[in-house]
Amino acid sequence: MNIEAVKWIGGTDGVLELIDQRRLPAEFVRLKIRSVEQLHEAIRTLTVRGAPAIGVAAAYGPILALQWLTGRPSAAEALNEVLKACDYLASSRPTAVNLFWALDRIRAKAREAAEDPQTTARGLQAALLTEANTIHEEDVVMCRRIGENGTRLIRDGFSVLTHCNAGALATAGQGTALSVLFEAHQRGRQFEVFADETRPLLQGSRLTAWELQQAGIKVTVICDNMAGFLMKQGKIQAVITGADRIAVNGDAANKIGTYSLSILAKHHGIPFYIAAPSSTFDLSLESGAAIPIEQRNPEEVIWCAQVQTAPSGVHVYNPAFDVTEAKDITAIITEKGVIESPNRERIRDLLGRAEPSQPDSLRGPAAKR
Ligand code: MRU
Repeated sequence: MNIEAVKWIGGTDGVLELIDQRRLPAEFVRLKIRSVEQLHEAIRTLTVRGAPAIGVAAAYGPILALQWLTGRPSAAEALNEVLKACDYLASSRPTAVNLFWALDRIRAKAREAAEDPQTTARGLQAALLTEANTIHEEDVVMCRRIGENGTRLIRDGFSVLTHCNAGALATAGQGTALSVLFEAHQRGRQFEVFADETRPLLQGSRLTAWELQQAGIKVTVICDNMAGFLMKQGKIQAVITGADRIAVNGDAANKIGTYSLSILAKHHGIPFYIAAPSSTFDLSLESGAAIPIEQRNPEEVIWCAQVQTAPSGVHVYNPAFDVTEAKDITAIITEKGVIESPNRERIRDLLGRAEPSQPDSLRGPAAKR
């Protein structure tokens, strides 16, 4: 099944199509997004989610914004509208740096286009569509390469634990952590996967289990608090997750609960891998302590699948992400290669490496925020 979590249909007057991830696995529904406001809401409510997918979806937002300009706007007016749209979209979710990375690229492209005195508003919009499509295509390639680079880490007979969803639904391509598993499966590797349920929003049981089932990979869903017991029983040989933002020292923010898994894995001598594209690195941050952690609505904890599971009005703490320390990460799998025992030097070295077959925009250090 070709999932395509994010899809642009048409030219500059086109529409953004998103899979409504809130309704999976019960219903597979594609939503048409026609305005920046709708896109902001889709990101905020996790209709589209997962760091790379959020970035790719946001890249198309300013094109939608320009569709709503009436009359014959000048390129300067169009640029102004694009910058406004970017700022607005940047307020949708704070943790995944891919959002800011993609919007920075769109801003830069819009400014570059507007500098040319010949550029019209229409021309600027066309330049943005090309850039958004490039961001989209790059993500597809990065996902595949992450899978190829990580596949050797998954051996015959392994049981692999994953958390949240870092699959096709979370990217424009075949995922990050799950890409490694998909590639290993395609190469005939015999392994099985345990998927943490991932409370409060159940991305693991709803999305990861669904994706792995579609791919014919044996998957078993467990509640989040079962991971330690499985490790103690010798049932887990590797843990692999995605990331939302990785600081220059290798500290990595990912879905809440990832940090606990890294400590459990270390305690049990199990390798702990993060899979992420270069667009997830934030080289402006010295460590994970500086990564902004999204706090979400208490209702997500009070309610589970439309059933009230805690008393109304009770105090709730609902951070959406936590930070795994670099010292507890065995390796980070990127599209450029695998960074073993990640640290500042190794990260800078690998991300700074040019790849002849990559577009220019993939070279050099990742974007900052
Ligand atoms: O709140 P979400 O569902 O957007 O959180 C997603 C995650 O934590 C993923 O693991 C991360 O974005 C990596 S996706 C390739």
